[in-house]
This record gives sequence, C-alpha cells and structure tokens, in this order.
Amino acid sequence: MSSFKDLRIVDNFYQTSLFFPMPLTLIGTLDEKGEMTSFGAYSLIFPYYIAGKEYYAMVLECRNTSNTAKGLLRHGKCTINFLPFSKKNFKQHVDNGFPGDTPIEKMKDFRFHLEDGVSQSEHPNEKYPKVISEAIQVMECTWVKELDNAQDDKVLEEYLGPYHNFNGITSKYGAHFILKVDHILMKEKYYNAILNGVTRSNFAPVCTNWGYRDSKNFWCSDYKKPIAVGIPNREIDLSSLRYAADRADDKVKFTDDALKTIVAVPRPFLKLVLKGCVDWAKENNCTLITEKEMQIIKDKRAKDKKKK
Ligand SMILES: Cc1cc2nc3c(=O)[nH]c(=O)nc-3n(C[C@H](O)[C@H](O)[C@H](O)COP(=O)(O)O)c2cc1C
Repeated sequence: MSSFKDLRIVDNFYQTSLFFPMPLTLIGTLDEKGEMTSFGAYSLIFPYYIAGKEYYAMVLECRNTSNTAKGLLRHGKCTINFLPFSKKNFKQHVDNGFPGDTPIEKMKDFRFHLEDGVSQSEHPNEKYPKVISEAIQVMECTWVKELDNAQDDKVLEEYLGPYHNFNGITSKYGAHFILKVDHILMKEKYYNAILNGVTRSNFAPVCTNWGYRDSKNFWCSDYKKPIAVGIPNREIDLSSLRYAADRADDKVKFTDDALKTIVAVPRPFLKLVLKGCVDWAKENNCTLITEKEMQIIKDKRAKDKKKK
C-alpha cells in the first residue's frame, strides 16, 4: 500500500492541492494612459530562457483581465520587484493581489516609494514603468510579443478564442507573457555579495509564497538565514578529459595545463566547451591551446556575454 493519499486535481491546483513554493513579487506596469505605474502581486513568474538564446527571458502566468495583463498588452513593459521579507511587506503584496481594483485604487495606500529604472534613463523620450525603491532587486522586462504570433493580441472585455499556446492570451481567463530581461537592478549590498561572494549574512532576504491559500489566508514563509551545502566535487581525471580533447579536432590540440582549467566542467557540457575552444583556435590560426589561450577564450566569452 502507498504511503501517500491521491489528492484530486482542480483549478489552481498549485495552491488548492499542493504546498507549492514560489517567488513573491510585485509587478509594475503602466496604466491605460501610460502615465502611472500600478503594481500587482505575482508568484507565477519564473525563468524561461536561461541560456543558449540571443536573450534571457522570464515567463509570467496571469489573469487576462488583470491590470498587469492589460499593461503588457498595451505598452509591453514591466518591472518585477522583489521586496525584503517582513509581515508588513507581505501584507502589501496581499493588498495588491485583490482582483478587480483599478490602478488608482491599487496605488492609493501603496506603502513603497517609486523611482525610475535604467530603461527610463536610457530612453528618456519613452515612458517606462517605475521600480520600487525598497526592492532588493528588480528585473526590467519587455514582452516578446512576436513569439507564438501574439503581436496582434489586444485588450478586450472578453476573450473568446482562438487562443495561443504559450504567449499572449492563452485561454478564456488566462494569459502568458514571455518577458525579455532588459536589466537586473540590484541594491549595492547584494550586488557586492554576488560579485565578491555570498555568505549567510549578506544573502538577500527574499521570501517564498507557499502557494497554499484557503478561504481566509495567503501563506508566506518567514525569512531564515540560508544554509549552504557544498557542491559535489566530481572532478573528472585528466585522462578522460584527454580522451575527449584528442577527439575534438584532428588539427587543434590541447596541453595538459589547458585541460586542467576545465576539469570542473560537468560532463554533458564538455563537448560543447571543447568545440568552442576549437572554433576560437581555428579563427585565430592556433593549433596548440595552452593555459594562456584558455584564459583568452574565457575573457572573450565573458565580454560577449556582457555585450548581449
Ligand atoms: C502573493 C500573491 C501572489 C499572486 N500570484 C499571482 C500570479 O502569479 N498570477 C495571477 O494571475 N495572479 C496572482 N495573484 C493574484 C493577483 O495579484 C490579482 O489577480 C491582482 O488583481 C493582480 O493585480 P493587477 O490587476 O493590478 O495586475 C497573486 C496574489 C497574491 C496575493
């Protein structure tokens, strides 16, 4: 006999039939006139394209009649704001999570301060949603409306179909938005933590919405100091690396020192990394890759990433 009970799956199963940990954010979009920023509470927001594409993207799932969906359909821009955990801050999320309020009603007693993001200063003649000054980190995003041919989706009273599969209006009540990440803005303390090393004391106090919602309450986790568990040190020995490197190309070869710089690359990515090095070597008329060339390749890759 199973040690589990088989629970029924119903609408909004992630919060009616599960304890589902999710991020907690306030998403800012412009109102109908494109003048004021209004914020809605959102947890169904998650990384979508994380590597290997020309851009990075998030996916948002939301009600298609929400202010946020309307703002994205009209203006295509949003800010995803992560606030530090406190019960008061959580309460503001719940207040901004009440369906049906207009942007003016939503923002009447809003307890946070607003400021321009980087997108606004880059494009002073256009109008961008603001970011929350008290946020730990903010993602400034643009809706990729061409995906799934959603570019002609408009704000309507009711959506009767046909519906898209994964971008734009996706059902009678739902919408999905694939959001290109234009900027990640981070408060200095956490910026330094990411660049110089994260510890238990400089870790950002982000909290988790536990998904579960009954007829009275939304449930959210308190912030506790994080614990760290070491990444398994599964370095492959040089002989298996040598085997792969010798087969990567018939002309371009690697020294042992060069291979030592990539011992920690997980096996599924090894071929790809070696191919990248070989491609660089061919472009640069190099037939022997040493530690020095590996450093050049690494620097170039970091530069290319920054440009993107
Ligand atoms: C903590 C929390 C998380 C929420 N997450 C979502 C979500 O991911 N998607 C969604 O459609 N609604 C979500 N809601 C409900 C929306 O916040 C609600 O529909 C609200 O009216 C949206 O605001 P807006 O109309 O200004 O966009 C959430 C509510 C709360 C309190």
